[in-house]
Amino acid sequence: MRNFDEHNITDEVVAKVGQGDNPRVRQISQSLVRHLHDFIRDVEPSFEEWEAAIRFLTETGAMCSDTRQEFILLSDTLGASMLVDAINHRLAGNATETTVLGPFYVDNPPALELGSDISGDHEGTPMLVRGSVASSTGEPLAGAVVDTWHSDDEGYYDVQHYDQGGGVSLRARFRTDADGRFRFWSIVPKYYPIPDDGPVGRMLRQQGRHPYRPAHVHFMIGAPGHEKLVTHVFVAGDEYIDSDVVFGVKDSLIRELSHHPAGTAPDGRTLESDYAILDYDFVLSPKPA
Ligand code: BEZ
Ligand code: FE
Repeated sequence: MRNFDEHNITDEVVAKVGQGDNPRVRQISQSLVRHLHDFIRDVEPSFEEWEAAIRFLTETGAMCSDTRQEFILLSDTLGASMLVDAINHRLAGNATETTVLGPFYVDNPPALELGSDISGDHEGTPMLVRGSVASSTGEPLAGAVVDTWHSDDEGYYDVQHYDQGGGVSLRARFRTDADGRFRFWSIVPKYYPIPDDGPVGRMLRQQGRHPYRPAHVHFMIGAPGHEKLVTHVFVAGDEYIDSDVVFGVKDSLIRELSHHPAGTAPDGRTLESDYAILDYDFVLSPKPA
């Protein structure tokens, strides 16, 4: 076991990493080594380039904190998150399509009454979000847990302001009513750049890419006996709808906002300014028996 060169080292490393008891660990380790070695043979990095790659990954890790997950951004912007998502949702049937979770979900958001306004003191066009949750068998799902979150009108999520003393806003948890319906008020979301002041932002600039995501509202929906749904609803007409930096847009997730003049909204609330309505009906897959 010596005298390795570029022609014989791969087979030796593949054999070495495949000695454990766990067959899945063996499969993953061996495939990783084969693809990594093929990548190196393909690009033939100089020592300086290899050092730069290691520095890039080191800085990506160093950038991570409770409120910043640079590795998720890296996975998302290289299309890896959407590929993993696609592989794990091959048999969705008529269930609502999925998309990336992103780094801004917070466990156990505030539980609010249906019809609440989650906009806090944010400026923006009021938006009534209405929808339903049903099983793909057609049955409405009462009591489904609907978590929602979105960015403010400057493109920031509340978590990005926590370390400056900001509180929770533009996120909440609702439970569907007896007919499987939910509704809440917020403000119309806008496109925004993903955090681009770190290694991933530098990578995007070197790749000649913009950092923007089209306007969207996130949803994570759960109901007993059903697969958890992680998705967004995108606002039709957004200028970045065809160039989402994380490759997350699907036609079935795009909805037109309807626009309404000041007055009484369908839920009885009186609006002193123009407002919008976003409707979306979600369908969950039953868990396999
Ligand atoms: C988001 O939509 O919150 C998001 C998704 C991927 C990367 C950054 C942000
Ligand atoms: Fe988002």
